[in-house]
Amino acid sequence: MAIDPTSPVPKYTQLRDHLLDWIVEAGLSVDDPVPSERELGSRYGLSRMTVRQTIDLLVAEGKLYRVPGKGTFVARPKIEMPLALTSFTEDMRARGYEPGARDLARRIAPAGKNTARMMGLPPGSPVHHIERLRTADGEPMAVERSYIPVSVTPGLDTYPLSGRSLYSILEEEFGILLDSGEQTIEAGICDPADAKLLGLAHGSPVLSMQRRSFANGKCVELALSTYRADRYQLHSRLDPRRPGGT
Ligand code: GLP
Repeated sequence: MAIDPTSPVPKYTQLRDHLLDWIVEAGLSVDDPVPSERELGSRYGLSRMTVRQTIDLLVAEGKLYRVPGKGTFVARPKIEMPLALTSFTEDMRARGYEPGARDLARRIAPAGKNTARMMGLPPGSPVHHIERLRTADGEPMAVERSYIPVSVTPGLDTYPLSGRSLYSILEEEFGILLDSGEQTIEAGICDPADAKLLGLAHGSPVLSMQRRSFANGKCVELALSTYRADRYQLHSRLDPRRPGGT
């Protein structure tokens, strides 16, 4: 388990790979402590600065977490997010977490030009604005901002959403079964207000998602969501290329 000083791979990257292997080999599990920076430095013959760089990297990747004054510990594995038209509630339950929602804001307002264009609505059409903090086993995971046309869901504002799935309300109360959607996901930096809600440090990385969901060709929801990048990763099945296909 030596670091190769002649390798073109930076020492902190080599240490990262060693540490990840070691965590598995040593049978460490979630919340177990990893050796201190001083100990790792002498074990691998590396400077404290290099070790710190490695730990910083593993913390940023969500593999380890630090508790000030206590040490560094193995983090929980990230939650895999499928690329599918599923609800937060379904995704969390499928992974053994208890989903939750806290209402941050709800109102009806005229759709701005951009929102209206994206939803295929005449500008100024009334839309429900729903802002929720989504939790898994009580831990904040995402901030979701949804826009839903009032024309397809009159009275939606009277349904409490805490502890209830929006998609199941759409289905059970309005008979809307989403049948298609599209989603864009990009890396981002959490804005300070969302960071506070999500319990993240300023400048933390997030996954910014924009989803449009449709039923019978009509846009039912435009959602702008901010997911913690330290707790989520995207997962997608890959099908083989079909001969002659693109
Ligand atoms: C996902 C989508 C959101 C959608 C939500 C509905 O998280 N990104 O656009 O609003 O699911 O979830 P639920 O039915 O649990 O409220």
